Amino acid sequence: MTQTPYEVAPGTLSGKVALVTGASSGLGRAVALALAGAGADLILLARSESDLDAVAAEVRALGRRAHVAAVDLADAGALTGAAEAGMAELGGLDILINNAGTDVPGPVAQLSAEDWDRVLDVNLRAPFLLAKAAFGPMQRRGGGTIINVSSVAGKRGWANASAYCASKFALGGFTQSLAAEGKAHGIRASVVYPGGMATSWGQWSPDDRHGDDRKPQAPSDSLPPDRVAALLVWMCAAPSELVLNEVIVTPLNEGGWP
Ligand SMILES: NC(=O)c1ccc[n+]([C@@H]2O[C@H](COP(=O)([O-])OP(=O)(O)OC[C@H]3O[C@@H](n4cnc5c(N)ncnc54)[C@H](OP(=O)(O)O)[C@@H]3O)[C@@H](O)[C@H]2O)c1
Repeated sequence: MTQTPYEVAPGTLSGKVALVTGASSGLGRAVALALAGAGADLILLARSESDLDAVAAEVRALGRRAHVAAVDLADAGALTGAAEAGMAELGGLDILINNAGTDVPGPVAQLSAEDWDRVLDVNLRAPFLLAKAAFGPMQRRGGGTIINVSSVAGKRGWANASAYCASKFALGGFTQSLAAEGKAHGIRASVVYPGGMATSWGQWSPDDRHGDDRKPQAPSDSLPPDRVAALLVWMCAAPSELVLNEVIVTPLNEGGWP
């Protein structure tokens, strides 16, 4: 892992259970491994069972427990069932990282209503359903941390990404409502708006995913996902009275922000 100034000590999150969506790849995989490194047990959600199994093996090699659920986040019933099974096996929930995302690029005039719905279902409805499922278990533990991963596309609309931008803007508003409802129960909610990261983003199906096979870029052009992951884990480990409500984190040479 890349060294950052905001590492948390091993064991800081011992006894905590975290659910990470999109844990099969990119930022989600990096967050899952960083949370396990800090002592948390993991519920790992995404579609690709083989990629999740590989991440689960890495989590277990760090001495932590892992529950794998291969599920399409657009399938509301399967998603809620998977989260409940994971929480039942690992004994509750303290941390929810709504990280998975998708896009169907194209101009508004050509985007189908089905494609619009699919992007909104994965990027917005799934975080709602998981936060809804997490709220009671977190309350019973005396609190928790929810981090919703948006994008700089949630701060500025882009051409050919209307459903994506709409979902990522909406995630910011949803997070504020969640934070307002959660604080009486010790549940803090944050939204993170990353800029460019060096992941396999853009390869929409697990069958297409072969790691980040774009031309290697300097960290100042495209952030290594483990650096962003370390920041998210620090947010989870931060004193419970401290909330980073919104974080915009970009490489130095980000094109999409400001
Ligand atoms: N990379 C960037 O430049 C960038 C910039 C700003 C924001 N982001 C955001 O960062 C988050 C993580 O993306 P990434 O960069 O790490 O890309 P990635 O490597 O492509 O990861 C995307 C993850 O989402 C999961 N996913 C996608 N559709 C799903 C579905 N229908 N059901 C379940 N899981 C699904 C994928 O798993 P399966 O394919 O196995 O289902 C994969 O684990 C996303 O929310 C993205 O919008 C990325």
